[in-house]
Amino acid sequence: MNGDFRIGRVRWWHLSAMARMESAIFGPEAWSEGLLWSELAAGHDYRALFDVAVPGHAVADRAEFGGADPGSALSDRAAGAPASADRTPGADDSAGSGAADRASGGRDADGRIAGYAGTAFTDTEAWINNIAVDEAYRRRGVASMLMDDLLARARAHGAKSVFLEVAVDNVPAQRLYDRYGFYGIGVRKNYYQHTGTDAAVMRMDL
Ligand SMILES: CC(C)(COP(=O)(O)OP(=O)(O)OC[C@H]1O[C@@H](n2cnc3c(N)ncnc32)[C@H](O)[C@@H]1OP(=O)(O)O)[C@@H](O)C(=O)NCCC(=O)NCCS
Repeated sequence: MNGDFRIGRVRWWHLSAMARMESAIFGPEAWSEGLLWSELAAGHDYRALFDVAVPGHAVADRAEFGGADPGSALSDRAAGAPASADRTPGADDSAGSGAADRASGGRDADGRIAGYAGTAFTDTEAWINNIAVDEAYRRRGVASMLMDDLLARARAHGAKSVFLEVAVDNVPAQRLYDRYGFYGIGVRKNYYQHTGTDAAVMRMDL
């Protein structure tokens, strides 16, 4: 893929931009910014592909949170949360974390979010909770890069299987998953609230 892209961890200051992407991509089924916050707070592993040549989206002033990272605070409070993304093996944190990033306002240097993916881990399983690519970046290998990254991280976590749900009429996503060796293991009827569409449950073995 041409351009200057990198994959990094999703931080709280990316969530408003992600919520806007959710709305544009998923319409009435979009996850709200609040729901995305709770995904981070639960310690799920959210990663984004950043187009570093394009300035990042505007974000809320961090001062309103007293300079702290509310994601970390929430994460600490989340009952029974799995291992924090901070401790995820192989985390490169290239999209901004830590003191250096805080000092430089690294959120603005992260670049535009081309796509993102979120994974939840249990001992031996990984669940892909979400994967989405900005329309302007589709068919350029963004989702494939996010999949490669998340599968490598799933392996590093010791996951033996990866699961996901996909709308039965979502051909692009199903093609993508087929390429990675996912296979159908069941159907959840009327899974998507607003359309009543069924979801196929898919699995791949690592
Ligand atoms: C599905 C989605 C994530 C794919 O993202 P992407 O970055 O365009 O995917 P890639 O460029 O990495 O494509 C990888 C492969 O997936 C398949 N694919 C992707 N988009 C496709 C499409 N519109 N039609 C058919 N196959 C498609 C192809 O096999 C493609 O390989 P190819 O381009 O060499 O033919 C993107 O279309 C998207 O965000 N859709 C809306 C959100 C969504 O449905 N998410 C999944 C929820 S389960």
